[in-house]
Amino acid sequence: MVQLTSVGVITGVVFTSVAVLLHYSKGTEWKPAEDISQEVLERRAKSVPETDFPEPMNRSIGGGGAVGAVGAGEGGAELEEGEEEDAGFDPAAIPEDEIEVYDIEFAKEGTTIEVANNETLLDAGEDEGWDLPYACREGSCLSCAGHIADGDAHDYIRHANNDTLSDEEMDNGYCLTCTACPTDSFTLETSESP
Ligand code: FES
Repeated sequence: MVQLTSVGVITGVVFTSVAVLLHYSKGTEWKPAEDISQEVLERRAKSVPETDFPEPMNRSIGGGGAVGAVGAGEGGAELEEGEEEDAGFDPAAIPEDEIEVYDIEFAKEGTTIEVANNETLLDAGEDEGWDLPYACREGSCLSCAGHIADGDAHDYIRHANNDTLSDEEMDNGYCLTCTACPTDSFTLETSESP
């Protein structure tokens, strides 16, 4: 019994000494690595080209998306160019010394008449007594649509307003007779819509 107790005491002392030594030792002096996440972010930010967008979004993924959106917007601006041209056109504002008259052949009516560049095709046709189709008379529907047999409508008429026809439809010769004034002579087929 006495022997067993001595072994126990010695073992206890050894373990205690080891614990005390470990407690006061300096360890491996290992330190956690520095946080480099900010540095990495900054390096990545520098690799993205500058844009015109204000900080802080111009270098983020969101900024890139915005650049794409602007690209699309530029395409839209091109479309609006033609529309703006027509939107600013007021036939009534044409000075008297700039009024010109063109020969318009109304194919289905079988007659060629003179139409001034400040007069709509619909008005000119009605002045002849023809019962031409229309509804809104302001370029917002398709009721009065006609087809220019000679080609691209942009080359022959100007719309005072066009909320309906696309650029492509005009390229194919379609126009809205209620707001279209001639800029050249041509053959018109009334009651024709795209
Ligand atoms: S009548 Fe509606 S667009 Fe001409």
